[in-house]
Amino acid sequence: MQTIRTETRDRVAVIRLNRPDALNALNRATAQDIAEAAEGFEKHPAIGCIVVLGSDKAFAAGADIKEMHPAGFREMIRDDWFATWDRFTAIRIPTIAAVNGYALGGGCELAMMCDIILAGDGARFGQPEIGLGVMPGMGGTQRLTRLIGKSKAMELCLTGRMMDAQEAERIGLVARIFPAERLEEEALSMAAAIAQRSRLSTMILKESIQRADEGSLSEGLLFERRLFQAMFALEDQKEGMAAYLEKRAARFERD
Ligand code: CAA
Repeated sequence: MQTIRTETRDRVAVIRLNRPDALNALNRATAQDIAEAAEGFEKHPAIGCIVVLGSDKAFAAGADIKEMHPAGFREMIRDDWFATWDRFTAIRIPTIAAVNGYALGGGCELAMMCDIILAGDGARFGQPEIGLGVMPGMGGTQRLTRLIGKSKAMELCLTGRMMDAQEAERIGLVARIFPAERLEEEALSMAAAIAQRSRLSTMILKESIQRADEGSLSEGLLFERRLFQAMFALEDQKEGMAAYLEKRAARFERD
């Protein structure tokens, strides 16, 4: 797998994002690789927990803007862009996101797909998609709102601003913060403790907590994905992403 590195440590599996030149931007190959790796680990009865890691600079800076930019609504809907992530959220053993650096857009959304988010003290979270002329499309409008409430989710998504790890912990997005250099070790040790429990019991417990959280989440996610795909019929998507790639300010339509 080109986009990730995997390893196991006793009963813990590690998925390490590995696109350093793109700050671990999540292209479609990455989604496939993560889904495939996680499904493989789940099938392995010795593995009791999965930890998802990025680099020191970025957990993941979002879905891959270079890959998405030329797509239109036709490609988005035909290929059901982002649907691959449903395979990762269907994983039944516990998952932990350990976030150092940027977790933006799809990166923040990938972290929220995990059961627990741990952060290094320099981590930055945000949903900046509005600046690209689109909106979150990997679960952000649904999961962030459930996690932190409507007003805060609206504020973060509509402004696109970044928040630090301390704010993310205060509002309940992040479970615990550690010094950045200790994050990986702490995440692995928490994962090892979870993996020591009855595997089946942790799976059942996870499913039960998900029930409390989900309700009609699947409808919400499908709705969000269709809207995201539809945004690729807009000029503003082309302009927002072109402006990012050309390193200039976007000139959005004013109507
Ligand atoms: N997609 C593709 N490439 C990306 C990327 C992304 N999301 N984020 C960063 N990169 C690339 C940059 O283009 C750059 O590549 P080049 O050297 O070829 O120009 C490289 O990674 C390094 O990035 P920067 O030079 O920009 O690094 P920086 O330290 O100056 O800035 C940053 C870091 C603030 C995170 C900045 O990279 C940034 O703003 N990235 C985009 C963040 C973003 O808008 N994410 C949302 C994406 S859309 C989405 O995720 C939709 C969804 O809901 C699923």
